[in-house]
Amino acid sequence: LHIVHIAVEMAPIAKVGGLGDVVTSLSRAVQELNHNVDIIFPKYDCIKYNLVKDLQFNRSYHWGDTEIKVWHGKVEGVSVYFLDPQNGLFQRGCVYGCADDAGRFGFFCHAALEFLLQGGFHPDILHCHDWSSAPVSWLFKDLYTHYGLIKTRVVFTIHNLEFGAGAIGKAMTFSDKATTVSRTYAKEVAGNSVISPHLYKFHGIVNGIDPDIWDPYNDNFIPVPYTSENVVEGKRAAKEELQNRLGIKSADLPLVGIITRLTHQKGIHLIKHAIWRTLERNGQVVLLGSAPDPRIQNDFVNLANQLHSTHGDRARLVLTYDEPLSHLIYAGADFILVPSIFEPCGLTQLIAMRYGAVPVVRKTGGLYDTVFDVDHDKERAQAQVLEPNGFSFDGADAPGVDYALNRAISAWYDGREWFNSLCKTVMEQDWSWNRPALEYIELYHSARK
Ligand code: ADP
Ligand code: GLC
Repeated sequence: LHIVHIAVEMAPIAKVGGLGDVVTSLSRAVQELNHNVDIIFPKYDCIKYNLVKDLQFNRSYHWGDTEIKVWHGKVEGVSVYFLDPQNGLFQRGCVYGCADDAGRFGFFCHAALEFLLQGGFHPDILHCHDWSSAPVSWLFKDLYTHYGLIKTRVVFTIHNLEFGAGAIGKAMTFSDKATTVSRTYAKEVAGNSVISPHLYKFHGIVNGIDPDIWDPYNDNFIPVPYTSENVVEGKRAAKEELQNRLGIKSADLPLVGIITRLTHQKGIHLIKHAIWRTLERNGQVVLLGSAPDPRIQNDFVNLANQLHSTHGDRARLVLTYDEPLSHLIYAGADFILVPSIFEPCGLTQLIAMRYGAVPVVRKTGGLYDTVFDVDHDKERAQAQVLEPNGFSFDGADAPGVDYALNRAISAWYDGREWFNSLCKTVMEQDWSWNRPALEYIELYHSARK
């Protein structure tokens, strides 16, 4: 198959959240299964160009009252066409955040279809993502099916229904197949009016992570390479380096890591509660979080200052986006906490497991599908041929958090040997794209029938 993704975020060159990780890692996984994958991407000025290989001018065409220069390069081994309209739409120093984002990305989607048509491409599948590339679906059906792209089918993936419901609803109508990023989230949103008319073509496929990009045996940001065989030594070294780097006490205490965008979705009040609870239980907390909303950012700056004076040796909040530090936290933490209010899939719990950190999560969306409580989910795990791998809770409230976190911290204090074997177990589970990529390929085939 020839699959073309049209997307506006991709890791590691222009990543905002999990969508960026998925575009790159799904493409790589499908390509490794011998399919032909291209990504069409805006040529932002803020791309990390040092991570693009073999960038070359490819061609230029005219559309939408402007010249569009096309560049080609490789990102993580995947072929990417960068569209560079000469009207300055992508010279804004950012991916999102402009008043005319909808217009900019609408222009990009249309320009991408025009590029395929004028370039004589005949992809089997156009795969678009969230509101930002949703217009591909209806522009394609309105304007392009009559021309050269007759055999092409459109697949639309919802990563988060919270944003751009109008565009998502329209893409649901015009796409041939639609997916979202876990089975449970698919069930949770099935009753939503933009989804419910289209259930016959709507599927939940859980995300994977790229095991080469997230690999504690081959990671420049952590001190000692490790696999499940030397997980205890590897994580001990990473914890020490993390403690030293952040200036918290270098001690053998249970360390809870939180790596997140600080938004309503991620359970702000639960995060705060968990920080205090962990400190009460004589643990350490490291939070790496970035808040797009300045009020939330301020709130956390105040909390950081407060903690600095009361618990400076055991808590550190780093209020920014920091990719290298995130690697060291995944490696150095005993637990990664994800208390989301809702979570279409969630990647941090999967990355945590790859680094031998035990997830403590709220049972929602993809968190429910990937984390199996050691006390309560043995059967559900067995049905997936898995061992239980974490701690989880239901209620989006303080008692909920306490229920999971208390058990997690007690397990650390009371049964180190058992806890260490749990770290080994979670590391050995396969949360890569091995399985989900096959499901996507099956879906692509079924879209063409
Ligand atoms: P979402 O896309 O909703 O933010 P995901 O769990 O799907 O949530 O993906 C989040 C991705 O972004 C993960 O790769 C995570 O490591 C990364 N991330 C989140 N916050 C930060 C941060 N402050 N610094 C570095 N990486 C972060
Ligand atoms: C969205 C969701 C997150 C998901 C990611 C990748 O950002 O919030 O749950 O993991 O997309 O699909």
